Amino acid sequence: MPHVGFIDLTYHPNRHKDVIAHFYVEPEKNFEEAVNAIAGESSIGSWTDLSTLKVSVANKLKARVFQMNEKDGLVKIAYPLDLFELGSIPQFLSSVGGNIYSMKAIKNLRLVDVEFPEKYIKSFPGPAFGIAGIRKILKNENRLILGSIIKPKVGLNASEQAELSYQIWKNGIDLVKDDENLTSMTFNNFYDRVEKVLKAKKKVELETGKKKFYSCNITAEPTEMLKRAKFIKKLGGEVAMIDIISVGLAGVQFIRNQNLGLILHGHRAGHSTFSRSTKHGISMLVVAKLARLAGIDQLHTGTVVGKMDGTAEEVSTINDLLREDWGHFHKLKENWSSLKPVMPIASGGLHPGLLPGLVKILGTDLIANFGAGVHGHRNGSAAGAMACAQAAEAVVRGITLEEQAKIHPELRIALEQWM
Ligand code: 3PG
Ligand code: 3PG
Ligand code: MG
Repeated sequence: MPHVGFIDLTYHPNRHKDVIAHFYVEPEKNFEEAVNAIAGESSIGSWTDLSTLKVSVANKLKARVFQMNEKDGLVKIAYPLDLFELGSIPQFLSSVGGNIYSMKAIKNLRLVDVEFPEKYIKSFPGPAFGIAGIRKILKNENRLILGSIIKPKVGLNASEQAELSYQIWKNGIDLVKDDENLTSMTFNNFYDRVEKVLKAKKKVELETGKKKFYSCNITAEPTEMLKRAKFIKKLGGEVAMIDIISVGLAGVQFIRNQNLGLILHGHRAGHSTFSRSTKHGISMLVVAKLARLAGIDQLHTGTVVGKMDGTAEEVSTINDLLREDWGHFHKLKENWSSLKPVMPIASGGLHPGLLPGLVKILGTDLIANFGAGVHGHRNGSAAGAMACAQAAEAVVRGITLEEQAKIHPELRIALEQWM
């Protein structure tokens, strides 16, 4: 019976043919045994040698640990591309994101990052619009995009939501979005809401001459999601929001692969169930890469300065990754065939006073979303929207918010309330 080992520190990974996973590993007992078990279980191995495993197959398909450091727990494993089904995120997760996290041989295991060869990347469609496509439809060349989540999260009816959306669009908000837990409720039916909010959108677009977006939450089981997405398209909407963790990335792939001509907005609610621990689970960086493969155009990645966990370094790394070329450089044609760049979204606990700090860290190729930071303004949502737009204008003009607040009472009140 052939004995197959999975540690080969002399192996040089082939970046065109191997998927390279970066793990943090804490063993229960022995580091080498744990690392060997991780590479085995996530590729072709099991807990004992197998009479059914041919040496030739093992050599071709086994994962190889080519770097490991017991001191800091960092381990790199190369997986031959043939271990993966092209274009399938579920299959990838069943391997590198699968059984290994449950093994008794490990105490903690975290998938920190993953590098995909261009053949794998190109087996996915990626975003249909990406940053350039979003900006083109919005007729916004490089300005920060201002978004607002309707609050309360749930509780308003469709007419109330349409009226509120109208008010904040009218006062400077570019994008209105549903909250992650608002789908189709007894008191706010999806189809009724889309109809009413898109009608308000058309009205405000005519009145202001500005393009506006409504990110409507289609989260549901796939058949219903598709029905909802088609309804948005039929009524002239541009954006569909999906809770990518609740629905699953296969659900995102399913919607993307319909080529409906809708911008897909990815909300990441729930990611921290597995990404927040620095020792165990799967990092948000990996989630962001998978979301880009699946075809999300704009993705929540963190605010740094807001209410959610995530350091400046972590969020900037993710946003940079989403914005850069990703794919393959053709030497002969001298061009990239990259999956389109994804627009990062900062959302969670933002208010106008935080905007300069946010832009300093994350730049303006960004959607900044304000929920309570608009609807918590003591003079109401319209004033809240104005305060956000005034803060954004101050950032563009390079003046302080205090200076801007001298001539803008809405911003002054927001600063008094929250700074
Ligand atoms: C929310 O619903 O409160 C936020 O979107 C969460 O923020 P995040 O995008 O930073 O996770
Ligand atoms: C979101 O879904 O993005 C949020 O609900 C953020 O809400 P907040 O601005 O009130 O924290
Ligand atoms: Mg929310």
